[in-house]
Amino acid sequence: MKILFYDTKKYDRESFDELLPEYPDITVDYLEADLSPHTTILAKGYDAICAFVSSDVGGNIIERLAENGVRLILMRCAGYNNVDLEAAAKAGITIMRVPGYSPEAVAEHAMALALAVNRKIHKGYIKVRENNFSLIGLTGITFFGKTAGIIGTGKIGAAMCRICHGFGMKVLAYDIYQNPELDFVEYVSLDTLLSDSDLISLHCPLTEESYHLICKDTIGKMKDKVVLVNTSRGALIKTEDLIAGIRGKKFFGVGLDVYEEETHNVFENREDDILETSVTARLLSFPNVIVTSHQGFLTEEALYAISRTTLENAREFEKGIPTEANIVRA
Ligand code: NAI
Repeated sequence: MKILFYDTKKYDRESFDELLPEYPDITVDYLEADLSPHTTILAKGYDAICAFVSSDVGGNIIERLAENGVRLILMRCAGYNNVDLEAAAKAGITIMRVPGYSPEAVAEHAMALALAVNRKIHKGYIKVRENNFSLIGLTGITFFGKTAGIIGTGKIGAAMCRICHGFGMKVLAYDIYQNPELDFVEYVSLDTLLSDSDLISLHCPLTEESYHLICKDTIGKMKDKVVLVNTSRGALIKTEDLIAGIRGKKFFGVGLDVYEEETHNVFENREDDILETSVTARLLSFPNVIVTSHQGFLTEEALYAISRTTLENAREFEKGIPTEANIVRA
């Protein structure tokens, strides 16, 4: 099995190289370039390609990969909203992913964002470095005894429910399916979750139904001074409406690991660039907003789990016994 990696970063290469000696049947080449109409030709001669969360795995790209003989696309991530599943089925390409490689890593990052923006760690850190030991402007709210509202209680949302429970918060949840393991959680309607929660954290996938779930209408239903966190997918929130809500002083704080229009920015050092849109700059202009660049997954344990499962996916596909749970179908 020959695999071509796209959009490879230093930490990807390090974690895969560490495990590859255990897989002598697999050969890997790494590209820094991401998938594009110009780079699909490089996959000629490879059985599989490996892509990541911000790669363009649209219909056009899939057709070209199939023309070049690719039979398998290994997503080294859990989400797959960037993959055209119907085009893959039509082209006879199998899509495999890494579901739930470290749900706690993402949930811990969600709580880190909630705490940082609530307790103004981003401001305190800079102030003290400038010998400014004043506490003016740093007042937060105590999470203990408050209500957390978790939207989507799959693997990551469930981990976030457990963390909030551990903080002594009442935990409300909204999901289309209830998670029976979460006996301390009260499932409520979306409207009740929005109106009753002091902290709202998004953990549902991006689908047609969840696109712009957080918009003018749903923001209007939230409590004043709510803390909102999104570590799931940018387009769950309609950014223009979020910005209007922030300007209207609806939010005590907003923590975003993902945001609309992040694709050009994600994982790139763009310090010398003039950015194409003003969304990032406008979000960063607010003192009560913290943005990180899709780093929720980034722990040593998660990288190890991603590498292990991706290589196992490749091996099982080659043997003709791929794990059904790791295959994504249209
Ligand atoms: P999961 O599949 O285990 O759970 C998703 C849950 O959302 C399910 O319980 C499902 O029933 C629910 N759901 C689906 N549509 C919904 C809707 N319209 N409203 C409410 N609930 C809905 O997924 P997992 O592993 O917990 O991941 C969740 C999301 O986190 C992924 O889709 C991905 O977008 C994001 N993610 C972000 C990462 C980061 O680094 N920031 C890393 C990994 C995943």
